[in-house]
Amino acid sequence: MKISVIGAGYVGLTTAACLAEIGHHVRCADNDEGKLNLLRSGKMPFFEPHLDEIVHRNIIAGRLQFEIPENAVVGAEAIFICVGTPPLENGEADLCAVANVARTIAQRATGNCLVIEKSTVPVQTAQKLKRQLQQYAGKGLQCTLASNPEFLREGSAIQDSFHPERIVVGVETEEAEARLREIYAPILEQTFKCPVHTSCTHAQKPAWIVTDTNSSELIKHASNSFLAMKISFINMVADLCEAVGADVTKVALGMGMDPRIGSAFLNPGIGFGGFCFPKDVQAFVRIATKAGCDFSLLKEVENINKRRIEHFVEKVRQELWVLRDRKIALLGLAFKPNTDDVRFAPALELIRVLVREGAVVSAYDPQATEKAKAVLPGIRYCSSPYEAAEEAEAIMIATEWEEFRDLDWDHMKQIIARPLVVDGRNMFKPAEMTARGIHYISIGKLPAFSVDDGLSNSSTSIASPGELQAVLK
Ligand code: UDX
Repeated sequence: MKISVIGAGYVGLTTAACLAEIGHHVRCADNDEGKLNLLRSGKMPFFEPHLDEIVHRNIIAGRLQFEIPENAVVGAEAIFICVGTPPLENGEADLCAVANVARTIAQRATGNCLVIEKSTVPVQTAQKLKRQLQQYAGKGLQCTLASNPEFLREGSAIQDSFHPERIVVGVETEEAEARLREIYAPILEQTFKCPVHTSCTHAQKPAWIVTDTNSSELIKHASNSFLAMKISFINMVADLCEAVGADVTKVALGMGMDPRIGSAFLNPGIGFGGFCFPKDVQAFVRIATKAGCDFSLLKEVENINKRRIEHFVEKVRQELWVLRDRKIALLGLAFKPNTDDVRFAPALELIRVLVREGAVVSAYDPQATEKAKAVLPGIRYCSSPYEAAEEAEAIMIATEWEEFRDLDWDHMKQIIARPLVVDGRNMFKPAEMTARGIHYISIGKLPAFSVDDGLSNSSTSIASPGELQAVLK
């Protein structure tokens, strides 16, 4: 099918590349000529595992082109709107880019064309889009509207696109549903050869969920807000664990075994970030408020998340007392591993707080350094975790990159000023770190102490707060 994808960001470029890979002829459009040229030359505007290979292959096969929106929509049988919907000051989504695309489609698209809204938008946007398209449509254009939210995660966007658990389509006509089925047929039936097969964890046929456009739009916001709620919930449980002497990892394990709860998204840490959760939770609260529903539950999800950084910094303050002139190594800048995205990354907020208190921060990230530098100059960015850790009085872990699991702690101990690791992502077993001679502080657990401290460092035996205080004194 001839498909246009408008917007060459994370969602648009991934969608375009994957649709081309399953056999469609795709024109991917963006207003940014620089980005189009970069893509035409085979370079990626951001890091996403496997995306570059798929883009290259499909450019060469002649199934993927990059154009400006005015040209890309001409003659398309289906047009995916994948432009950004960033947050406005008041938390609502800014729909200017979506509205501009609608005008371009109305003026330039031709024939019988299905317009599919994939960007995350407030409920009832499809209805508004439909009115706008009807208002501005040129002669000979017959447009139908559909909503088809994306659920792809940065870092595993390709895998999520080829092997989704569900495909949600909000449609008003059977014809629209049929066209969407045709587009997704290879994925629905899993009949294509998966280009990233080795790293795929599941390949079952996805559920096909057909709804009206309003429900489809709500599914996206409700899903992301629910996941954010799970994270804030477990973060509060982690605080409680610290206060009473319990282990959040075990609590989460016990909770997650109940299939009604599920074990995913129960990892405590320094809070959720990225371009989706913070903005989607905020936008959902606004949507509810405008509709006359006070979703105060979600306001608390946001508040808990905002407090995470302060809670984390307090852990290092407890150890170093005054942070002024203290050298701190920060490992991880991206909002999560396997991406170079630093938008709303907790690590950047953490750096701001540390710098405000006078700490001297050296940071390392395997992918996100350049993007972090652009928004947060003025600290030292390093090319290895060891360079960042030289003479540091504390190592703080903000992103759970796989490569941090293999750090050479014996070498670290020789170069750092003090063997203190404050881990915001619970990457290590406290007892193992203690055995390596590292004073290890994580989230939702009491620190493990060496046998010499008089407390067991076994992961099942946990000191009571009273015992702990005695040892700390
Ligand atoms: C999210 C949704 O998962 C995806 O379905 C949607 O389409 C886009 O938004 P993404 O923003 O890529 O995807 O990140 P995700 O993997 O969901 O993580 C979001 C944040 O939550 C990260 O900062 C991550 O570190 C944090 N997180 C996640 C936790 O703190 N604990 C967890 O248990 C899980």
